[in-house]
Amino acid sequence: MGCLKNREMFKKRLSNINSYKPGKPIEEVKRELEVDEVYKLASNEIPFSPTYINKAIQKELKNINRYPETGCFYLRRAVAKKLKVRENSIVFGNGSDEIITLALRALIEDGDEVLVAYPTFLIYEIQARIEGAKIIRVPLKDFRYCLDDIANKVTSRTKLIFIANPDNPTGTYLTNKEVKAFLDKIPSSVVVFFDEAYFEFAPADFPKSIRFLNERGNIIVARTFSKAYGLAGARIGYGITTPDIAAVLNKVREPFNVNRFAQVAAAAAVNNDEFLDKVITHVKREKQFLYKELSKIGIEFIRSATNFILIDFKKDTGCLNQYLLENGIIIRELKGWGLPNLFRVTVGLCKENKKFIDLLKRYVNSI
Ligand SMILES: Cc1ncc(COP(=O)(O)O)c(C=O)c1O
Repeated sequence: MGCLKNREMFKKRLSNINSYKPGKPIEEVKRELEVDEVYKLASNEIPFSPTYINKAIQKELKNINRYPETGCFYLRRAVAKKLKVRENSIVFGNGSDEIITLALRALIEDGDEVLVAYPTFLIYEIQARIEGAKIIRVPLKDFRYCLDDIANKVTSRTKLIFIANPDNPTGTYLTNKEVKAFLDKIPSSVVVFFDEAYFEFAPADFPKSIRFLNERGNIIVARTFSKAYGLAGARIGYGITTPDIAAVLNKVREPFNVNRFAQVAAAAAVNNDEFLDKVITHVKREKQFLYKELSKIGIEFIRSATNFILIDFKKDTGCLNQYLLENGIIIRELKGWGLPNLFRVTVGLCKENKKFIDLLKRYVNSI
């Protein structure tokens, strides 16, 4: 009885919203399946740690009793300089996830429409529904965003359009030309949110979104230190937008949303091109290895502009997933995306990718 009462005091719309289920952590698989060595190829993290940041973290430890700077002063200066944008056009978040939440918190009133592709990164829809938005799903075509279909769905109630570019979980991307033509059809009253979490892995014809932002204004570009920079555990990302939009996003964020260690780690990372090059070269090379080996096994996949690959297994992935887990490999099933026959694998270390391929081969030969 008590429970029921409690449930009734919450916002009604929350009862229909499922929370986000992240990839299984290594620690959990070790505990539950008693496997000693576990390789996580589930959450699009890079497989090596940026240990060069240790000194900066160590130095910051003595200040742990003090709140961090609310404006990420040094990091802001470094990012603005690198991207040639104004310092007051950047908003930092506890991961780029938080930039998504801030945009929705600032823009959405009950019943406003938010356009999302389907399937795509799930957080857009979850957070938008929490804010009371009406979700308009626009199906992918051949695993790609269909920008014409999205533009055709814009109404006078549309507030925000989310574009994951490159996309998760497909790994496909939209080109500069495609995005330019799309933006020409979108009214200035609608904010277009380009989520570029995998920007660093994308090819040369990738959109110059900051140029579009400077020309048009109604754009937020989100990037992250979680992926190519290897700082997923620190939780830091940012949005680049107009100073006006940035001021509103800053109004609705928590004052100390980015902790001290994330700030100094990102400041050390932002200009470390050597580490970034190492990551990008590794991912490119290992993706080729995975493509080649998957083709040999006869398994279909989508060529990716990111550090993960979407694989079409053509049958339910449940048993395969369990087999891989029991042998110490965590992949990402996509049932939550409505794709029970597909799964996503993150590019890991050479030995991790090799073990994944060996196990997959063995599994496929056994069925
Ligand atoms: C498309 C996309 N956007 C945003 C994020 C969130 O990244 P973070 O909050 O770690 O910056 C992810 C993480 O997987 C992602 O795939």
